Amino acid sequence: MNIRRLVTFRCELAEGPLWDPDSATIYWVDILGKAVWRADAGGDNPRKWDLPAHVGAMALRRNGGAVVALATGFFSLDFATGRCHVLAEPAAGQTRTRFNDGKVDRRGRLLAGSMDYGEHDPLGALYRLDADFGCTRLMDGFTIFNAPCWSPDGGTFYYADSARGTLFAADYDLKSGTISRSRIFVGPDVAPGAPDGATVDAEGCVWSARWGAGRVVRFTPDGRIDRTIEVPAKKTTSIAFGGPDMDWIYITSMKDPALPDDPADPESGSVYLVTGAGIKGIPEPRFAG
Ligand code: BGC
Ligand code: CA
Repeated sequence: MNIRRLVTFRCELAEGPLWDPDSATIYWVDILGKAVWRADAGGDNPRKWDLPAHVGAMALRRNGGAVVALATGFFSLDFATGRCHVLAEPAAGQTRTRFNDGKVDRRGRLLAGSMDYGEHDPLGALYRLDADFGCTRLMDGFTIFNAPCWSPDGGTFYYADSARGTLFAADYDLKSGTISRSRIFVGPDVAPGAPDGATVDAEGCVWSARWGAGRVVRFTPDGRIDRTIEVPAKKTTSIAFGGPDMDWIYITSMKDPALPDDPADPESGSVYLVTGAGIKGIPEPRFAG
């Protein structure tokens, strides 16, 4: 197994790595840097799109371009012009929250959730954006919503509240895009660090970026630790599979805040590429609208 930095520069808050099999490129967002990035699989030819606001998540659309979850809602992003247009703005006017993470379900709907900028109060909510841009609030009470991802059959939804240190699992009705029977999947203190972004591999195991602990952890579907990959940057934020055979792993990280036990954290904000881990992921569906 080999791990190296994907690109030489660091982001403020790199997040949401997303492999696009069609173009064989890797996208990610810089939430606080207000940007979408794209690079070749091995990190060459990085390209940046500047956005008008903090960007918590991005999904590619079936008919081209992207949907971005900016601070207050969902916007289209035209890669040719770099322009954003509002699709649905459920948190219009709210200044204490921003969108923080999102992913597309196996039927092409985008689920994205928000967080309290102060990381203190349960002001965040989870929303679903349908192909017709109808927007529904599915859950609330999150301090830091994170880690949305689905089991390979799409019937189990995983998500986290990082402030509670907990990963949850819930039943997901693919027909209606609704959530029921939420339960604790991995509680606090099972693995070091707080649960940040996550993804599910082709064997149904859940990979969780462990914020503050410089690692990603693979959990079996019954919530046991199966494997750990250590990362030089301590504030590990998210993870995605990609590459030519879907067996490369992209891991993002963030710069601030300084951690008491590792204030320098010199590589924080880097994006990493792991090869040779021997596990395949599942390509992310595109947003259906
Ligand atoms: C958020 C950060 C937060 C971190 C904590 C990230 O997803 O974007 O602002 O500090 O989660 O786990
Ligand atoms: Ca995150």
